[in-house]
Amino acid sequence: VTRPHRTRTRLRLRVERVVAGGDGLAREPLDPAVGDAGGPARRAPSGGRVVFVPGALPGELVDVELVGAARDFARSRLVGVVEPSPARVTPPCEALHRGCGGCDWQHVDARTQLELKVEVVREALRRTARLPDAPVRAGGSVAPWDYRTSMRFALGADGVPSLHRHRSDDLVPLAGCPIAHPSLDDLVGQLRLPGADEVSVRVSAATGERSTWWRPEHVAGLVVPGDVRTGRGGWVTEHVAGVALRVSSPSFFQSGPGAAELLVATVRSVCGDELAGATHLVDLYGGVGLFASTLLPAGSGATVTVVEGSPDACADARVNLADRGADVVESSVERWAPERADVVVADPARQGLGRDAAAVVAATGAPVVALVSCDPVSLARDAAALREHGYVLSTSVVLDLFPQTHHVEAVTRFDLERAPRGTGTTG
Ligand SMILES: C[S@@+](CC[C@H](N)C(=O)[O-])C[C@H]1O[C@@H](n2cnc3c(N)ncnc32)[C@H](O)[C@@H]1O
Repeated sequence: VTRPHRTRTRLRLRVERVVAGGDGLAREPLDPAVGDAGGPARRAPSGGRVVFVPGALPGELVDVELVGAARDFARSRLVGVVEPSPARVTPPCEALHRGCGGCDWQHVDARTQLELKVEVVREALRRTARLPDAPVRAGGSVAPWDYRTSMRFALGADGVPSLHRHRSDDLVPLAGCPIAHPSLDDLVGQLRLPGADEVSVRVSAATGERSTWWRPEHVAGLVVPGDVRTGRGGWVTEHVAGVALRVSSPSFFQSGPGAAELLVATVRSVCGDELAGATHLVDLYGGVGLFASTLLPAGSGATVTVVEGSPDACADARVNLADRGADVVESSVERWAPERADVVVADPARQGLGRDAAAVVAATGAPVVALVSCDPVSLARDAAALREHGYVLSTSVVLDLFPQTHHVEAVTRFDLERAPRGTGTTG
């Protein structure tokens, strides 16, 4: 909990690194205070209080204004960059200049974005999982622009798709989004949905199909092109790694087909030998069956179980896996009765596995687990939880599936090195 700062204290700070969440981290004070606080700043004890600086990069000397404080850290607003990083670039997006909070890293060049994300994962594993030497490496990025084929928008009173101002409820109407695929941008420009609160929009780059799903569903006076599949039952067909996947509007799909391809290729690269020899694969948090349908080599006699909590995604997965005889189980992972597996792929939502689902993973006895994480801190917590069950982190590959934002994706391989505690057996 941060309290708002009553006085407008300004500081000049050197930024040490970026943290999970995307902000720069500095410590106060480095130099005398500047600006309207006036006078020299109080000397902090060595390694003074942490100050988070949104929009600042490692190595930069910045002027900030404190906007809130907790006991051992403060939040700030970037006022000026005195010594910019060589990685700093001018954000090209017009909506960003109008306050759109959709992209918080447009000021960082594309190559550096992935390097920073690798450092964020290393730091999370060092601090939270106590793994200072975890083998973490960069695995690749999707195209820096035009990559999103699924997006969710808020709607203003006029029904124009909009994004939120940074950390605010205020809306910024969009007239083009540079990270959206051009077909998605084109569709968004044609939608007018007065009376609705939010809309999910999806296009297939492969087939040109389009879908939208707005909430609440029963509103009148909408402008939607005739070819667009609407509502909960709307769907598009994505093509990934040579496989066609039906994706309904409520079902999760990666940021675009490029992200899905890169994830599948990365899981294959970290678990290739075990996948080739597997007789049973378990795909936890399986969504529409992305991994279950693409990971096993053609002609493999292996069986697959998909565990997924969303009924819409399960319905898609049953269609997408019909020719594989896969078992699609509609259940939360935590309540699923574990079955033996050679390889487990687990791709949980932002909060990660948590202790209960980590125990379920371990109960499969799988010698190899590929954990797909979209939050570096939950990855680190999960690494610690899996270690309790005998799983050792072998490699973590960091991907940039969300260029221009701080969002991180990592594929991490764990190997079972000893019998889980308390069971005396690996099953
Ligand atoms: C990050 S998505 C991954 C989906 C899929 N692996 C993919 O790549 O397309 C997480 C999925 O987990 C599902 N989910 C979230 N919490 C769950 C839980 N506790 N048990 C089972 N599924 C869950 C969501 O509905 C979503 O489909």
